[in-house]
Amino acid sequence: MKPPRLRCLVVDDEPIIRKGLVRLLEGQNYETRAASSAEEALGMLEAEAADLVVSDIEMPGMDGVTLLGEISRRWPDTGVLMVTGQTDVRMAVQCLERGALDYITKPFQIEEARARIAQAIEKRDLILANRDYRRHLEERVREQAERIRELSVVAVQALAHALEAKDAYTRGHSSRVCAYSSAIARELGLSAAELNDLRTGAELHDIGKIGVREMVLLKPSRLTEEEYDHIKLHPVIGERILKPLLGDHPSALAVVRSHHERPDGLGFPDRLAGDAIPLVARITACADTFDAMTSARPYREAKSAEQAREELRRCAGTQLDAAVVEAFLKAYPDPAQLPIPTPGRPAFRTGSSSGRRDGPSRRKTKT
Ligand SMILES: [Fe+2]
Repeated sequence: MKPPRLRCLVVDDEPIIRKGLVRLLEGQNYETRAASSAEEALGMLEAEAADLVVSDIEMPGMDGVTLLGEISRRWPDTGVLMVTGQTDVRMAVQCLERGALDYITKPFQIEEARARIAQAIEKRDLILANRDYRRHLEERVREQAERIRELSVVAVQALAHALEAKDAYTRGHSSRVCAYSSAIARELGLSAAELNDLRTGAELHDIGKIGVREMVLLKPSRLTEEEYDHIKLHPVIGERILKPLLGDHPSALAVVRSHHERPDGLGFPDRLAGDAIPLVARITACADTFDAMTSARPYREAKSAEQAREELRRCAGTQLDAAVVEAFLKAYPDPAQLPIPTPGRPAFRTGSSSGRRDGPSRRKTKT
């Protein structure tokens, strides 16, 4: 494909110089327009940008220096070449300092002018290429930093899944909580970015249990008050673990810290109430509660989907956010769909366990 012709604009109030420059540029096969004043030039640039502006400095009305400033501000990719009388050399140097590519002194030799124009165009190309390179470099650095963060989150997720896998009663819990939370979020119209943070937070909501004593975590009977207080530390521990990785994703951290808060203010760790609890955390709380109820514990059977849905309705407005419960019930109108099978975890699939789906009848889980 042929490269597009370079678009030039000549600005000079003297018709002879203007025509001379236009002829010279057209001779180089550049697409060339001409303006007799800076004001006219700005109007023409507004209609169509130019790659190169060749402008006189001294003109009635707006002068070339002001025009240069306007062009640099509004069309930073447009190169400007100044044309000056002998006495304006100082001014021309000032123009260079303000971003002009070069200057031609009047009266000029055609050959010299042609060479200076070619040099100016080359300089502009280099400046643009350099700017483009820097922009891409910054983008790449940003992308790589994000990828490193993602991989670190993936490693922590693997840890969370390993933690769950140690206990038959919690296996697959976070993935199901993540799936339920996503369905609620879609009902409530959360944006893609919010959904993404919610998913990360939901997958990791119980990561703080890493810091909970194993004998408490795996205790096959009801917890004592002291043990319950100990387990209640897990949202804060989880937030502390994830803060260095998810500092740029406060919503994901909010899920981890606040998924045990309750609208009536009786939750933990901060006893937040109502809308003071971040929406993503209220969503996760509903998903978490439903999954806990429909999962068996060592000391009790799992509730049926219908019983669990009834229980959600009963808790709406006190333990759980009413609008979130409604969104859950809308997302899963048919109790026969519930509980959902544990979603697969493609990132961590290995060997024989890959793709195994724990159906509702096989699963025994506790929160
Ligand atoms: Fe939890």
